Amino acid sequence: PLTAKVNDQDTLEIGGCSIADLVAQYGSPLYILDEFTLRTACRQYQTALARYYPGEATAIYASKAWNCLAVCALVASEGLGIDVVSGGELYTALKAGFNPQNIYLHGNNKSRSELQFAYDKGCTIIVDNQLELELLSAIASPETPARILLRLTPGIECHTHEYIRTGHIDSKFGFDPNQLPAIFATVAQHPSLQCLGLHAHIGSQIFERQPHQDLGRVLVDWLKEAKTYNLSLEILNIGGGLGICYTESDDPPSIEEWVKAAAQSVASACRAYNLPLPKLICEPGRSLIGSACVTAYTVGSRKEIPDLNRTYVAVDGGMSDNPRPITYQSLYRAVVANHMTTPSQETVTLAGKHCESGDIVIQSAQLPPTQPGDLIVVLGTGAYNYSMASNYNRLARPAAVLVHEGDAQIILERETYEDLLRQDRLPEKLQLKP
Ligand code: LLP
Repeated sequence: PLTAKVNDQDTLEIGGCSIADLVAQYGSPLYILDEFTLRTACRQYQTALARYYPGEATAIYASKAWNCLAVCALVASEGLGIDVVSGGELYTALKAGFNPQNIYLHGNNKSRSELQFAYDKGCTIIVDNQLELELLSAIASPETPARILLRLTPGIECHTHEYIRTGHIDSKFGFDPNQLPAIFATVAQHPSLQCLGLHAHIGSQIFERQPHQDLGRVLVDWLKEAKTYNLSLEILNIGGGLGICYTESDDPPSIEEWVKAAAQSVASACRAYNLPLPKLICEPGRSLIGSACVTAYTVGSRKEIPDLNRTYVAVDGGMSDNPRPITYQSLYRAVVANHMTTPSQETVTLAGKHCESGDIVIQSAQLPPTQPGDLIVVLGTGAYNYSMASNYNRLARPAAVLVHEGDAQIILERETYEDLLRQDRLPEKLQLKP
């Protein structure tokens, strides 16, 4: 889906911009976000929802995947809503121009001030637990009740990495379904709480369609149950989770196939119970932005260990700009962006520059021969890279550019040494006298 091509200098271009030119202008490492790919994914969700769901429906962007002003504004311009999980993400979404009506605040331990912030702005709050219900009851008033969804743990297993599975019963998120009848009863009577619907999220990087079909039915069952408490719920949010292709062996369903399966399951369950169709919301993060970005690095040192038949090729970034390999053993693909047509001739361990042996970007990368100064592009770095980046080893976070039809716009400045010291304070007694 990337708007990629190889130019006559044998160099990769994305969004009509040569990787070599981008790195020359903006430095390395560099996140390069392809506007067309991101917009296309937004439209695929909205189009598929309109096609396969007979009621009102929308996608909202799970901005934990990458929350910054430009990404939020771009997604807003496509008419999607947004899922935020902290005061910081909420603040960014508002600054980017999101209408608060399209903002949904998530989280399993929102602070009182985060709840107050979201309530004051008129956002919808996905209530995760009893404490939040109590806090919100105190914050909100009957004149302006808090708009809430209830999050439940649906007890649906899916095959993905243990850390990113959230829908099984042993999860820190959401109400246990056994608690729901009591919660329904409380919420139905509370004048300051306006319960609009239900939410569940079962995990991330999921390649099957069945879990979300099952989830659709489970949620509709609870929608029906809520009716007996005089709650007529109008929103059903099935979370996100559709996986993307990181390596050639990954084979996720398309956005259209995934939406179709989930939407039809919700619609048919409602038909079976003769329930009016709720507004259907899905909350993709990775499948919206993951494939839309690449990270360009510059090749540096090389170390051969002949006895082990091992070659390390080091690049100028690593776990600070992409913590996913060291955190989840995630796999990525890379190309040498300035030798695109040279065939791959060696298997190398693509290493980062951090003082940590586990800082490996790709364990076995098949690459053409490389020299210091060559440009390596790692694909599919749009989701959970910048948003999980750190300053480990006091590396400055890279810049990010948005590319489209030959035009590149900076969306995140590269951090400077001064930026790294911005929060540092030196007590007077520690200041060295010259
Ligand atoms: N909604 C909720 C409530 C979520 O917790 C998440 C992701 C999403 C939506 C979006 O899921 P997606 O469509 O992106 O799969 N850092 C991990 C992924 C953590 C996902 C957390 N929640 C990673 O790098 O793989």
